[in-house]
Amino acid sequence: MDSETLGAAMEREHHEIDRGVEAFGSGGDDAVAALTAAIAALRRHIYLEEEFLFPPMQDELAIPIGVMLREHGELWRTLEALEAQLAEAGDEGEARSICERLLAQLELHNSKEEPIFYTRADASLGPEATAELKAFLGSGQMPAGWACRQA
Ligand SMILES: [Fe+2]
Ligand SMILES: [Fe+2]
Repeated sequence: MDSETLGAAMEREHHEIDRGVEAFGSGGDDAVAALTAAIAALRRHIYLEEEFLFPPMQDELAIPIGVMLREHGELWRTLEALEAQLAEAGDEGEARSICERLLAQLELHNSKEEPIFYTRADASLGPEATAELKAFLGSGQMPAGWACRQA
């Protein structure tokens, strides 16, 4: 997998997160575990973008970065609503409908992020930072208590 670009690896993570959220909608034994993992993965993904991917592109892409940060804030609030709903362990229908909202927000967000940011990620960051972020995708951790810029 070492020849995979950072952009492709980030896109793959988008799909993995989608699958975890979709798994909850379709039920099954591991549905809650898959969703919980997807929530954590999405937070870490947003952390990586805001702290490491976007800053080197700030001069070139200030306006689209502003859009991405605003949408991260919306995603973050949806995750909080979803976690609150899961913690209550009450109405599963409500959690499903929040998952649908999350998937719609992700589609809108990722369909802009992939062509604008991921296609130029490797070139913009250079080989060293690219290798570091690829390693982070494997085993990196978001600092405890980190929240996105517009949470
Ligand atoms: Fe993003
Ligand atoms: Fe992303």
